[in-house]
Amino acid sequence: MPHSTSPEKPFNSTRLSPARLATSLFTSTFATRPAVVASAPGRVNLLGEHTDYNGGPVLPVALERRTAVAARAAQRWAFLSDADGELHGIDIDAPPRAAWTDYVVGVVRELRSLGAAPPGAELALSTNLPLGAGLSSSAALTVATAKALSLLAGKRLSAEALVEVAFRAEYHQVGVRCGRMDQTISAHAERGSALFFETASGLLHPVPFPGRLWIIETGVSHRLTGGALNERRRECEEALAFCRDWRPGLAHLAQLSPGDLPEVGRRLPPPLVPRVRHVVTETARTRGAADALAAGDLAMLGRLLVQGHESLRVDYESTIPEADFIVTSAVEHGAFGARLTGAGWGGAVVVLAPAEREARIVAEVGGDFQRRYQRLPVTWSTRAGRGVRRETIPE
Ligand code: GLA
Repeated sequence: MPHSTSPEKPFNSTRLSPARLATSLFTSTFATRPAVVASAPGRVNLLGEHTDYNGGPVLPVALERRTAVAARAAQRWAFLSDADGELHGIDIDAPPRAAWTDYVVGVVRELRSLGAAPPGAELALSTNLPLGAGLSSSAALTVATAKALSLLAGKRLSAEALVEVAFRAEYHQVGVRCGRMDQTISAHAERGSALFFETASGLLHPVPFPGRLWIIETGVSHRLTGGALNERRRECEEALAFCRDWRPGLAHLAQLSPGDLPEVGRRLPPPLVPRVRHVVTETARTRGAADALAAGDLAMLGRLLVQGHESLRVDYESTIPEADFIVTSAVEHGAFGARLTGAGWGGAVVVLAPAEREARIVAEVGGDFQRRYQRLPVTWSTRAGRGVRRETIPE
C-alpha cells in the first residue's frame, strides 16, 4: 500500500493532496524520487454548455480537486495511476487501448511533435476527482501530464501551449470532438475566480467567485468517447451548413441572435431547430451569467442556471432524469439554482445556494434523492480553485 492510514486520520483522498499521493506512489513503485510533480484541476461549468464548439462563451470554475502527475525521465514509457493501481508499460506508437492511458499517450505524441517530450518517462498519477462525473477529469489529466512531461524535457510551455497540447491529445488522439473549455480553465484558472471565455475570440476574463459551489453526483457515469457529444457536434455542424445557405458569412451558430430563431425554425429540418435554439439562448444566458456574477447577483445567476438546465433537457436532450430530479428538488428547497454541468448524459449537478443554508439544502436534496432512487448521492463542495502548476516535490 502506498498510503498509510491511522484511526485518528483515516485515509481520505480529499485530505491528502494528489501531489503527495502521486509522489509516494511513484517512489514506492519505481524505487526513486520523481524529478517533477505537476497538478491541474477539474472544472465545474457554471454556464455555457455545448457552446464552446459553436463559437460561444463559457463560464467555468476550476475545482479544488486535482490530478497530480509525478514523473522522471527513463528509457521506457511506464504509467501508473492510483485509479487502477496497475503499471502499464506503453508503446507510444501502438494503437489506442480504449483506456485512460490513451490520454497520456496523446499528450506524449503532441509534445513530441513540438519537440517538447522527453525520450521516455515513468509516471505516477493520483487524483481526487471523480471519474466519469462530467467534471473534466480528462483535462486535469492531460494538462497536468503536459506540464510535467514538458518540464522533464526542459521546456516551459505557456498556458496557451498547454491548452493546445491537451486539446489536441483529446480531440485528435483519443477522438472526443470536444471544444477547448476544459483545457482552458484547467490551465488558466485563478484561485477565487470563474473564467469567462469567449471561445470565438479567445478572450479570457476572470470574474471573482468568492463563494462555494456544491456538487451532487447523479452516480450515472457518462462515457464521452465516440458517443453522444460527437453526435451533437455533428448535428450542430449540419445546422450551421443549413444556416449558411441563408447567412453565407456565418462562422458559428453562436453568432445567430435570438431574433434569428424564427428564420431558423422555417429553414432547418425540425430535429435541428432545438439544437440551434439551445446554442443561441445559452450564449445569451452565459453573457448574462457573467454580468450577474460580476454584480454579485446570485439570485439572477441561479435563475439562469435553471433556465440553462431546462434548455439542456428540452432542446439539447442531454440531461438524465436523475439530474432533472436533483435540480427540481434543489430549487424547491431554496437553492438559487442548479443545473447538470459538463457534457451531460450522466455526471453531476452544480448547486448554487445561499451560504447560510447551502449545506442543509444539499442534505435535503440528498434525502429526496434517496427516497426516489434508493441510494444517497455523493455530495461535496468546492471554492474556485487554481490552474495547473508545478508542485514542490513533497517529502
Ligand atoms: C465536454 C467537452 C467540452 C464542452 C462540454 C459541453 O466537457 O470536453 O469541450 O463541449 O462537454 O459544454
